[in-house]
Amino acid sequence: MAIRQNHFAWGVGTSAYQIEGAWDTDGKSPSIWDTMAHTLPMSDTGDIACDHYHRLDEDLDLLSEVGVNAYHFSAAWTRVLPSGVGEPNARGLAFYDRLVDGLLERDIEPWLTLYHWDLPQVLQDRGGWANRDSVEWFTEYASLMAEHFSDRVTHWMTINEPWVIAVLGHLEGLFAPGISDWQTTLAAGHHLLMAHGSATRAIKERSPDAQVGLSLDCRPAEPASNSSADAAATHHFDGFRNRWFFDPVFGKGYPTDMVAAYASKGRLDPTLIQPGDENLIGTPIDFCGINYYTSVRIAAGSEEMDEAEGPVGIDPPNDYTEMGWLVDPDALERFLLRVHYEWSPESIIVTENGASYSTGPDETGAVHDLRRIEYLDSHIMATMRARERGAPVDGYFVWSFLDNLEWRAGYSQRFGIVWVDHNTQQRILKDSAYWYRDRIAQDSAD
Ligand code: FCB
Repeated sequence: MAIRQNHFAWGVGTSAYQIEGAWDTDGKSPSIWDTMAHTLPMSDTGDIACDHYHRLDEDLDLLSEVGVNAYHFSAAWTRVLPSGVGEPNARGLAFYDRLVDGLLERDIEPWLTLYHWDLPQVLQDRGGWANRDSVEWFTEYASLMAEHFSDRVTHWMTINEPWVIAVLGHLEGLFAPGISDWQTTLAAGHHLLMAHGSATRAIKERSPDAQVGLSLDCRPAEPASNSSADAAATHHFDGFRNRWFFDPVFGKGYPTDMVAAYASKGRLDPTLIQPGDENLIGTPIDFCGINYYTSVRIAAGSEEMDEAEGPVGIDPPNDYTEMGWLVDPDALERFLLRVHYEWSPESIIVTENGASYSTGPDETGAVHDLRRIEYLDSHIMATMRARERGAPVDGYFVWSFLDNLEWRAGYSQRFGIVWVDHNTQQRILKDSAYWYRDRIAQDSAD
């Protein structure tokens, strides 16, 4: 039975590959991101990243200074099961023991994501997520983690952003494992969702009181004009980007308009979705994590551009972050309400929200990142408006705690509320960190 949080979770988030470094330390094996970063010329790598693996205590103290009551991080599958399956690595588990225990000592709830994109390379060599066996591999990993940590970890996210993994990794080829093929994309997406359902069951079997969910990325879309053609294109885009994942996770099965569209273009292997699969994917969850950054405007004609790269957004002239993403807090409010009305999870958590601005230290060493404060303030207000209007929103996590490796964009994009000098590893709390600390304190006092 799902339970609403008894308090609002105020947190920050990170992921293993983006901050840990120590890519081949203490028995860790390479992940698909290690492979990609080592293969592409001129690419920033996560070999050292924020060196969090070696600076754990310092980083835990910084979390306390920011005053969060929750921390959302991911475990590297390659640290705890270097062969993907089979023999666990005690040294890998020990690192997460220190992290979890260090959080609890500081009264910070650990929110553990099992998969934030770093598949063991050994499993990619066996076909990765496109192989149906990946459901079993992931369940074995989830079971091990639940067995080991559920005495201390009560909040679990299975998969982070299945759309990104499927489409950017297997259609656009931009993210690991760098594949460009429609059938592989839909196979990977399907197995990721099945793996989510199966892992949810595995965690619940071992820890019935655990709160289990996943983080779905969303991209709210509006038609570029009032024309019916733009409305139809927007509906198609929404199917490709949002409904294909939300509908089955909430037990509605895949959207039939998209199944027909994909099948008619030969993108969907007719044997992929087997009886019982959608039932597994729809395994009830305790909360739905929403990762929100931006929204898009869709014009007719662009819905077919998902052939290669996803439909083109026609952005209105407005405010953009340094990722080139439109700042649109109202779309977050509307999407949270939509999640409540259309898919009705027991509880909703904003598991990622934040902005990239490169503002650095001034001559006194202070970081006056005013634009990030404005972004966070407007999006927290949007979250609270959705909550007041009835959406069961029980938590908000800023992305990100530290400036870190922004995947293919490398270290140039800075999402942190803590500045990291990537040469010296010095950390400085930005003004946004102090602002967030005060915002949390104000909420606790209310
Ligand atoms: C999300 C990812 C996260 C980070 C932010 C900016 O899609 O989950 O790791 O890269 O975007």
